[in-house]
Amino acid sequence: MKRIIITGGAGFIGSNFILKQIAETDNHILNLDILTYAGNLDNLVSVADNPRYQFVEGDITDANLVQTVIDDFQPDGIIHFAAESHVDRSIDGPIPFIMTNVVGTAILLDRMHNYWKGLEAQKKENFRFLHVSTDEVFGSLGPDELFRIDTPYDPSSPYSASKAGSDHLVRAWGRTFGFPILLTNCTNNYGPLQFPEKLIPLMVINAISGKALPIYGDGLNIRDWLHVEDHCEAIYNVFENGSLGETYLVGGEEEVTNLRVVETICSILDEIKPNASGASYREQITYVTDRPGHDVRYAMDISKIRSELGWNPSHTFEAGLKETIQWYLENRDWWTKLQEKKIYDQERLGTS
Ligand SMILES: NC(=O)c1ccc[n+]([C@@H]2O[C@H](COP(=O)([O-])OP(=O)(O)OC[C@H]3O[C@@H](n4cnc5c(N)ncnc54)[C@H](O)[C@@H]3O)[C@@H](O)[C@H]2O)c1
Repeated sequence: MKRIIITGGAGFIGSNFILKQIAETDNHILNLDILTYAGNLDNLVSVADNPRYQFVEGDITDANLVQTVIDDFQPDGIIHFAAESHVDRSIDGPIPFIMTNVVGTAILLDRMHNYWKGLEAQKKENFRFLHVSTDEVFGSLGPDELFRIDTPYDPSSPYSASKAGSDHLVRAWGRTFGFPILLTNCTNNYGPLQFPEKLIPLMVINAISGKALPIYGDGLNIRDWLHVEDHCEAIYNVFENGSLGETYLVGGEEEVTNLRVVETICSILDEIKPNASGASYREQITYVTDRPGHDVRYAMDISKIRSELGWNPSHTFEAGLKETIQWYLENRDWWTKLQEKKIYDQERLGTS
């Protein structure tokens, strides 16, 4: 049994991770989340009363609050998910990305390191700070390459630059202070509970609402897609078994163009929820101005996590996508509630 602080646990990946932890382990989880537009406690209703789960609403940039949480909870480790995570929003307003992703990570490192120094030997040796990051820190790939552990950082957007900054800080705390850090850099996730500003839920909801399906540019940008459940398994495997100071690249080995993602969503919907008019959902596809600084291709070399930790993605994109679409169809209340809160109305972001 471990006591783990999860930051950003009310978001997409963090909430999937907490649900899995409570169901499959006997760990105690403290979720520290400020509940931005992307944080949603509805994701966690099924564990809200579980004695092994507790929630603290608060900001990771608030050093006093972080200190109080650590003092009260006495963690054995932390898995740091909290971030501003949407590239388009980082184009419209970059500063919150710097505050949470860079400053917030530095504050967590500083307060956690201070706590770790005072731990008794056994607890100190077992302590882990796992930082959850993205493949976007590496920038854009040509057609035949893969991102590797030694690929130089070359971020394009304020989001990826802020995540790159946080990765550097985490490594610096490892090298300078001997603080027990681990990093994961992962490709695009999809699955249940993803805020509908992101490509897959956005397109599913727009399609069944009879709205346009906007493709940025020519739609030929390639992303590698990983089911969120596979990502959560990779993160916990690295947390438990990873070598301290190391970085593990995580991906699904499922490279798909954005256009193909949207066409596949349309084909699946045509099959499982055909339009009353008989028209294919593909007819709703439109092309819009590209995202500024849009990276062309991401793809990961996942040989290290595979060979060292025995992790492999278990969902194929096609099957995982179908299951995910079913989830959004069956959980209409979850996303209509978000629409009613008027936090986001499926509008285009990131054109400034
Ligand atoms: N979604 C992906 O495809 C993907 C891929 C690779 C890596 N990642 C990384 O995984 C992590 C989680 O991503 P996600 O998609 O779940 O993000 P998300 O936007 O769905 O959730 C982020 C959560 O962090 C919380 N948060 C934001 N600022 C905070 C602050 N200052 N203090 C406390 N909490 C704060 C939000 O309220 C929200 O609950 C991020 O670090 C992201 O960079 C995401």
